[in-house]
Amino acid sequence: SKGPASKLIDGLTSDPASWMGQSLISVTQLTTPGLELLVQTAAEMRTLVKNHGGDDRLKHKILATIFYEASTRTSCSFQTAMLRLGGQVMHVDASAGGNTSSKKGETVSDTVKCLQCYTDVTVMRHPTQGTVVDTALDSIITKPVINAGDGVGEHPTQALLDLFTIIDEIGILQDDNVLNNEPSIEPLIVVLLGDLKHGRTVHSLAKLLARAQREFFKRPLVLRYCSPEVLKMPSYIQEYIDEVSTIAGSDITQEVYTNVYDAMKNSDVLYQTRVQKERFNSPVEYANVKGAYIIDTQLMEDAPRKMIVMHPLPRVDEIDTDVDKDPRAAYFRQMENGLYVRMAILALVLGKGVAN
Ligand code: CP
Repeated sequence: SKGPASKLIDGLTSDPASWMGQSLISVTQLTTPGLELLVQTAAEMRTLVKNHGGDDRLKHKILATIFYEASTRTSCSFQTAMLRLGGQVMHVDASAGGNTSSKKGETVSDTVKCLQCYTDVTVMRHPTQGTVVDTALDSIITKPVINAGDGVGEHPTQALLDLFTIIDEIGILQDDNVLNNEPSIEPLIVVLLGDLKHGRTVHSLAKLLARAQREFFKRPLVLRYCSPEVLKMPSYIQEYIDEVSTIAGSDITQEVYTNVYDAMKNSDVLYQTRVQKERFNSPVEYANVKGAYIIDTQLMEDAPRKMIVMHPLPRVDEIDTDVDKDPRAAYFRQMENGLYVRMAILALVLGKGVAN
């Protein structure tokens, strides 16, 4: 079918024209060649920033950022990405309605239509799953909408910067920006830890890693879900991965753990998440699980030497600050990579993946 929902699957390829003017609302839109184009463009953005600070390829373009839910990293990195490429930014803080006309009863869709009259691309976060997708697929919306997180749904740009970080840290992305993803029989073992029920970042990342297993990573993938029973990975995500595996003939194993010491044995990545207080129905339910997994220096002593620690951040107390000094703590490098990946996304959807 070529209905609006078909835009959510396999539309973004290695052809830059396939990105131009497109919304990015789910990781399911990226083909493997599309992922390679994005990673390569992000690597070039990193070099550009380090050598020159940026360029002017998006001069006279304006980014609208509208956040109905709090953000530090996603909001600031998208805004900075636009500025480093010579564009300008109009930021709307719409948390609890902010000072927008939603206070007068305006719908999200009408507010975004308004922003699109004045700007060229919209980055949007909303606390309700599906709202960003519905907005982007509205036939009146004509300019790209980028999903900056929709409730417990997806956070595709976070998953893309996470994948970029993984390949950078484990040596698939080399210093000269060349991808060296030769096939290997050694599995990539990724532990997803903490609040897997509410964590949209781990939902997007698990889906993206599964889609990338066969043709991008070219090595077996082991996904280990480690959480309290009440915060386990939703079955619809596990079923999606099973389906991808079956259709693509992938080599993916999904395992469930409650003990982090067992889960991290031989692993390459320990991806910690915050227990999301704001998504619980009662303070008591939150209090019962909030300290379930703390990464501290003692845990790191038992962890594999090669294992990096990632976290989408913000953290509360689930990673002790003493761990920050450990070279395996990759979460601040991960946060920085958000800038380069978001520069690449903005450049691609505005038709400027390559500078003039
Ligand atoms: N990782 C992430 O989405 O952080 P913010 O909520 O600060 O944007």
